[in-house]
Amino acid sequence: MEVIETIAAFRQVRAQYGQLGFVPTMGYLHEGHLSLARLARDTCGSVAASIFVNPTQFGPTEDFARYPRSFERDLDLLRQEKVDLVFAPAVSEIYPEGFYTFVDVEHVTDTLEGAVRPGHFRGVATVVCKLFNIVQPTHAYFGQKDAQQTVVIRQMVRDLALPVEVVIVPTVREADGLAMSSRNAYLAPEERQAATVLYRALTTAQQAYQAGERNGAALRSVMQQVLAAEPLAHTEYVSVAHPTTLRALDEVGETGALLSMAVRIGATRLIDNVILP
Ligand code: PAF
Repeated sequence: MEVIETIAAFRQVRAQYGQLGFVPTMGYLHEGHLSLARLARDTCGSVAASIFVNPTQFGPTEDFARYPRSFERDLDLLRQEKVDLVFAPAVSEIYPEGFYTFVDVEHVTDTLEGAVRPGHFRGVATVVCKLFNIVQPTHAYFGQKDAQQTVVIRQMVRDLALPVEVVIVPTVREADGLAMSSRNAYLAPEERQAATVLYRALTTAQQAYQAGERNGAALRSVMQQVLAAEPLAHTEYVSVAHPTTLRALDEVGETGALLSMAVRIGATRLIDNVILP
């Protein structure tokens, strides 16, 4: 496995590969990331991953400085997954002095995470676009856990005709249902226990849907009630939205729905989602 820090060096090495699967990450890897790497390897034969905590996707009051980092451990895990190339640039390599170009994906960034984290998706789209230009993957792998991010990236790839196939991989969960996330590391033991409420709320609404409930407000209320019963949980939003436009739904129709939520457990902000049906 080669670990490469500069764009110039990566471009040279990239030329030796044909089909290449790409797993962009911010490090502090968990089983969710590794499932992406495994699928990339099985599909493409060769895999590149990036480790880059991207400052432009964090708001001024968010956790950029304290975002968990474990570079050597991440490299060991990627080596075990037989990843071929790791791109691990410094911030100044991606955003040098005089960096003035950003990618702004409109409409699908107005709601959900986009509404409460202004500028977040501008940072995500910009870095992913730049990473695609550097890595030149044939396929790129993202987890369903960041549902709106997958919609934004698909939209950007379509709008800018980027020559990459985007593959979305199901969320990997702990045995008790908690979606794997690097931010789970922030949770104190009693908060970790309380954090199971997100998936419980989602699956309770999913059961209501399976029992015939199609009304958006009713499904939202099911999720809110489950969340309200957990004293450590503070709900930021719950949503029943169209799976591709992300607009709130009054009724769930043929296209199904994305059930999603952002919840604070203590100081830690967690997101999760399921897709109906
Ligand atoms: O999902 C993430 O970890 C990040 O948003 C990504 C896609 C690596 C861009 O920084």
